[in-house]
Amino acid sequence: MARAALQVLAGFTLLFCSASASQDHAVCNHIKSQLGNDIVSPTESTYEALSTENWSQTVWAKPSCIIQPTNADQLSHVVSTVVDWGVEFAVRSGGHSVVPGAANINGGVLIDLANFNTVEYNADQQVAVVGSGLRWKEVYTSLDQYNVTVVGGRVLDVGVGGLTLGGGLSYLADLYGLVCDNVVNYEVVTANGTIVNANAESNPDLFWALKGGANNFGVVTKFTLKTYDIHDAWGGVRVYSLDALPALFEALYQYQSVANKDPYANIMLQAFPTNASIGAILNIVYLKPEQEPEAFAPFRNITPLADLTKLQTLTELMLAAPVPELTRVNWFSASFTNDKEVFDKVADLVSKSPELDDLTNLTAGSLAFGWQPISSSAVLAGQAHGGNTLGLQPVNQTWLVLDVGWWSPDDDELAHNYTSSIINKVNDVTKSKGHYLDYIFMNDAAADQPVIEHYGAKSVAKLKKTAKKYDPDGVFQDLASGGFKLP
Ligand SMILES: Cc1cc2nc3c(=O)[nH]c(=O)nc-3n(C[C@H](O)[C@H](O)[C@H](O)COP(=O)(O)OP(=O)(O)OC[C@H]3O[C@@H](n4cnc5c(N)ncnc54)[C@H](O)[C@@H]3O)c2cc1C
Ligand SMILES: *[C@@H]1O[C@H](CO)[C@@H](O)[C@H](O)[C@H]1NC(C)=O
Ligand SMILES: *[C@@H]1O[C@H](CO)[C@@H](O)[C@H](O)[C@H]1NC(C)=O
Ligand SMILES: *[C@@H]1O[C@H](CO)[C@@H](O)[C@H](O)[C@H]1NC(C)=O
Ligand SMILES: *[C@@H]1O[C@H](CO)[C@@H](O)[C@H](O)[C@H]1NC(C)=O
Ligand SMILES: *[C@@H]1O[C@H](CO)[C@@H](O)[C@H](O)[C@H]1NC(C)=O
Ligand SMILES: *[C@@H]1O[C@H](CO)[C@@H](O)[C@H](O)[C@H]1NC(C)=O
Ligand SMILES: *[C@@H]1O[C@H](CO)[C@@H](O)[C@H](O)[C@H]1NC(C)=O
Repeated sequence: MARAALQVLAGFTLLFCSASASQDHAVCNHIKSQLGNDIVSPTESTYEALSTENWSQTVWAKPSCIIQPTNADQLSHVVSTVVDWGVEFAVRSGGHSVVPGAANINGGVLIDLANFNTVEYNADQQVAVVGSGLRWKEVYTSLDQYNVTVVGGRVLDVGVGGLTLGGGLSYLADLYGLVCDNVVNYEVVTANGTIVNANAESNPDLFWALKGGANNFGVVTKFTLKTYDIHDAWGGVRVYSLDALPALFEALYQYQSVANKDPYANIMLQAFPTNASIGAILNIVYLKPEQEPEAFAPFRNITPLADLTKLQTLTELMLAAPVPELTRVNWFSASFTNDKEVFDKVADLVSKSPELDDLTNLTAGSLAFGWQPISSSAVLAGQAHGGNTLGLQPVNQTWLVLDVGWWSPDDDELAHNYTSSIINKVNDVTKSKGHYLDYIFMNDAAADQPVIEHYGAKSVAKLKKTAKKYDPDGVFQDLASGGFKLP
C-alpha cells in the first residue's frame, strides 16, 4: 500500500518536473519569437560564459534560457510573460552576489540586465542616470571627464544593481551616506509589467523600500544618482606583515575614536590570517588631493612592507586595488560599536581562531577579514537624504566581513560551517560586552544570515505593506525566490 502510494507520488513529481521544464522552454521560445537575438539558449555558444558569470562558482547555474532585454519596454514584456506563464526567474546585474539562486537559476529564466548600460550626466541637476547592468568601472570612467563622481562601489568589477539595492558601502559614506541614500529616482518594472518611477514625489513608499529592499519589489532598469565634485584624491594600498596586526588594530581604534573624524578620510583593512605571504592590506583614501592628512596619523609609525599611496584620481586609486581571484567564495557579516577591549577580542578571533586551521586544511582554503569603519555621520547623512530601510543606529561602528575562499565543491559545507562558527563567536563577544549591533550588511552577508529581519520590526512591517501594494501576488517572493527575501 505504502509503496504504491509512494510510486504514485513519485510519478506526480516527475510529471510536474517535466511539465515545468517544458513550460520553461516554451516561454523561452515564445519570448524569443518576439525579442529575437536577445535570448540565449543552452545550445548557443555564448550560453556557457553567460551562465557562469561571475564571481563565485558556487552560484553558477543552468537556466533554461538567458534573456538580455535592451530597454524597459522589452523588460516589461519579459516580466509579464514569465509571470503569466508562472515560470521561475532570477535577475542579474554584475553577478557578484555569493548567494546561490540570488542572481542565477537552474531551469527557469535568467534576466540579465547587461544591456542597461548607459550613463547620462546632467550637470544642471547634478545627477547621473545610470543603467542597472553596469559595473562601477564604467560609471566612474564615464563621469571622470566631468570631474564628478557618485557614491558607489569601492571595487570596480562589481555591478551597480545588486550593490545599490543592498545599501551599498562607498568611500564617500562618511560624507554623504550609503549608495542607496544617494539615489533620487528608480525606474522600475513591477510585478505586473508596469514601468514606474519611484522618487520622493511619485511612489514614495516604493522609493523608500528600494533603499535596502534588494530584489523584493521589481526589476530596476536605471538609477538616478546624485553627483559630487570629487575627482583628485590621495591614497592607495599599504601592505604589512601579519605581525603588524596588533599595531594596526590599535591604530584603527585611534582613527575611529578621534574627537572629529575627517569625513574625507576613509580606510578599509583587509588581512589574510591564513596566508602570511599576503599579510595585511590597508586601503587608504583621502577624497582631496592632499598628501598624508592628519586623519591617518595613527598609522604613521607602522612600517609597511610596501607603500603605494600617492596623489591620483579616485578612479585610478580604486583601479589599482588588488582583487583576489578565487574559485569558490562565501562571506559573513557582523556589526558592532567601537570599544578597545572588543576590538582586541574580535581581532584575536579573526586572526587566531582554531577554525582557521580547519579552513587551511581544505584545498586552497583561505580566509580574509575586512574591517570597515562607519562613522555616525554616514548614518546621519542617510537620514538627511530621506532615510532608508536598514534600521541603522547613528553611532560610530564597524562592519566586519569574513571572506572565505576554497577550491572543491566537496568542501562547500565545511567552508560555510567553519566561517559561520567564527562569526558566531564574534557576535557572542560583542553581545557579552554590550557592543553588538543588530545590523547585518546585506552586501557582505551569507545566504543564511537573517538580513532583512534585522532591519527591525518597524521597517519589516512597512516593507511588507509596500510589497503587498506593488506586488499583491507575491511574484518577487515566489517566482523570483532567490536572494534576501522579506521574512
Ligand atoms: C570584489 C568585491 C568587492 C565588493 N565591494 C563592495 C563595496 O565596495 N561596497 C559594497 O556595498 N559591496 C561590495 N561588494 C558586495 C556587492 O555589493 C554584492 O556582492 C552585490 O550583490 C553585487 O552586486 P551585483 O550587481 O554585482 O550582483 P548580482 O549578483 O547581479 O545581484 C545581487 C542581487 O541583487 C539583485 N539585483 C541586481 N540588480 C537588480 C536590479 N536592477 N533589479 C532588481 N534586483 C537586482 C539580484 O537579483 C541579486 O539578488 C563587493 C563584492 C565583491 C565580490
Ligand atoms: C566577471 O566578469 C567581468 C566582465 O565579463 C570580467 O572582467 C571579470 O574578470 C569576471 N570576474 C570573474 C571573477 O570571473
Ligand atoms: C577637470 O579638471 C581639470 C583639472 O583640474 C581641468 O583642467 C578641466 O578643465 C576640468 N574639466 C571639466 C569638464 O570641468
Ligand atoms: C562618532 O565619532 C565622531 C568623531 O570621530 C564624534 O564626533 C561623534 O560624536 C561620534 N558619534 C557618536 C554618536 O558618538
Ligand atoms: C598565499 O597567497 C599567495 C599569493 O596570492 C599564493 O600564491 C599562495 O598560493 C597562497 N598560499 C596559500 C597556502 O593559500
Ligand atoms: C589537517 O589535515 C591533516 C591531514 O589530513 C590532519 O592530520 C590534521 O589533523 C588536520 N588539521 C586540522 C586542524 O583539522
Ligand atoms: C554544517 O553545520 C550543519 C548545522 O550545524 C550540520 O547539520 C552539518 O552536518 C554541518 N556540515 C558539515 C559538513 O560538517
Ligand atoms: C500594476 O501595478 C501597478 C503598481 O506597480 C498598479 O499601479 C497598477 O494598477 C497595476 N495594474 C494592473 C492592471 O493591475
